Amino acid sequence: MKILFLDQSGKPGGAELCLIDIAKPYQNNCLVGLFADGSFKSLLAENHIPVQVLTTQNIQVRKDSSLAQGLGSLRQLVPLIAKVVQTARAYDLIYANTQKALVVGAIASFLSRRPLVYHLHDILSPEHFSKINRRIAVTAANRASLVIANSQASKTAFIEAGGRADISEVVYNGFDPQNYQIDELVVNQTRQQLGLEGKFVVGHFSRLAPWKGQHILIEALVQCPQQVTVILVGDALFGEQEYVQNLHQQITTLGLENQVKFLGFRSDIPQLMSACDLIAHTSTAAEPFGRVIVEAMLCGKPVVAAKAGGAVELVEHGINGFLVTPGKPQELAQVINDCLHDSENTATIANHARITASQRFDVTNINQQIAQLLTKL
Ligand code: UDP
Ligand code: GLC
Repeated sequence: MKILFLDQSGKPGGAELCLIDIAKPYQNNCLVGLFADGSFKSLLAENHIPVQVLTTQNIQVRKDSSLAQGLGSLRQLVPLIAKVVQTARAYDLIYANTQKALVVGAIASFLSRRPLVYHLHDILSPEHFSKINRRIAVTAANRASLVIANSQASKTAFIEAGGRADISEVVYNGFDPQNYQIDELVVNQTRQQLGLEGKFVVGHFSRLAPWKGQHILIEALVQCPQQVTVILVGDALFGEQEYVQNLHQQITTLGLENQVKFLGFRSDIPQLMSACDLIAHTSTAAEPFGRVIVEAMLCGKPVVAAKAGGAVELVEHGINGFLVTPGKPQELAQVINDCLHDSENTATIANHARITASQRFDVTNINQQIAQLLTKL
């Protein structure tokens, strides 16, 4: 089966990292068409996945766009659609991995008579998307032969927004557990290099964006002893510079400069996670899936996650991690302090999480699930 994957992003967010794992088995029979140039293209090439940047024109649709803006950008898309239609003729299937890719893919699928698959990485709720954006996404997705939702939460929101249940299937992100087994020597080196020896390190791994809630972790830190240090790993990928400034301001105002380190975007996530004592996920809006939660588990590290969306499907409180109410720093601080004082219980929970996550999210099984769904088409 020859697949034309489409993704609008030039930068590697979670949906793009997931796509690398999905496209790999098809690397001799696929092309990933991108709507922007950037480091994601290089990552695909490093993984020997054929990639082509189909346009470098910025498509002006935002998550909160109005109808007029949405229609205006449709006109902008005509040359790109023409290119996708032409390219699709050499492939059996169009696989859209993001919302703008879905809109382009749906029209191209109709014109090239190729079936469309949509991988839904978002929760289509008012909290995340404007009404018009939800309507466009659902209308386009309902034309697909298959919608793969990254969690039950994403699937439920899709159906509530008017999406077709009969074409929707849940498939979680897959991971290679071996990538997350880090040698103790490397862990010690990493802690040393980052000046983290003797600290209780809480890691936050996410792009810097208001809804990812880094500010909640900073607020929680005020209620923790001084040995607790936070590392913020990730960058503002989609222009959230004001939020980054606010975070720095918040840290200065609270006098936490010596307890917080910004590490920027990194590609050594397993090494950094393994150097942490606890990993915090603090999204203030429902997380569609939450790759970082599973990655923390695979590293054998305890994880505390915000109780909403896909995170609830991944974490069982007190069994394989901890759940706290989103946007409640006090609850988060309580979990951090509990983990600091009861390392034995925390280690048992983290170990259990590592074993179960290695099976549940094994990339080989996940890719088999996807292959089976695609074969049925
Ligand atoms: N990540 C990364 N480098 C960073 C920060 C994050 O490679 O500096 C990765 C992280 O390991 C995870 C992905 O980015 O695999 C983020 O995915 P997630 O599902 O957690 O959130 P998203 O950003 O997709 O909403
Ligand atoms: C999106 C979601 C994230 C999910 C990722 C992979 O980026 O925001 O929750 O883990 O896609 O499916």
